[in-house]
Amino acid sequence: MTTFNLIVQTLHNLARWGIVILGLIAIIRAFSGWLGKKEYTPADKRAGMLYTMVFDVQLLLGIILYVSKGWFGVLTADFSRALSSAGTRFFTADHLLLMLAALIAAHVGRSLSRKAADGVRKHRSAAIGFTLSFVLMLAAVPWPFTESARPWLRLFGISF
Ligand code: HEM
Repeated sequence: MTTFNLIVQTLHNLARWGIVILGLIAIIRAFSGWLGKKEYTPADKRAGMLYTMVFDVQLLLGIILYVSKGWFGVLTADFSRALSSAGTRFFTADHLLLMLAALIAAHVGRSLSRKAADGVRKHRSAAIGFTLSFVLMLAAVPWPFTESARPWLRLFGISF
């Protein structure tokens, strides 16, 4: 693997944990605010913003890897072959499309939350949008126990 790919892949691997942690924080705050009928505070707003922001950066790193690791080339060389084999389908299509759907759900949740009239409704929109986003994201990660297994943690040449 080239040094460039190793760096981007390490960042993409680590950012995944940032997204998992920030997503959990945003979801817990949103449900606790919604069910506990709490005020919507600047800290709630920040939690949602951080989750979507790191997710946006992850999209960028992912697109770089998609091209630099050759998945885009595999897809465009033979579309139906890439999609019909389990070995190439995950990274040429499934991972990308599910993550895009997860990112859209997060942005829609945030935008509806911003426009909602009161605190409880703001928390509710955030809770629904972020939970949907989080579930899609978890389903699309190449966890080590899945067919497209990638390491739990990658630090350049070292991986666990
Ligand atoms: C639409 C956005 C995304 C695209 C285009 C994308 C693309 C990719 C690509 C091309 C790879 C490299 C596969 C290989 O080893 O050849 C990869 C790996 C990976 N992706 Fe994504 N990705 C995206 C979003 C995400 C998100 C949001 C997460 C997690 C929150 C994520 C988690 C991972 C993980 C954990 C790996 C394995 C990294 C490693 O090998 O250490 N990806 N992704």
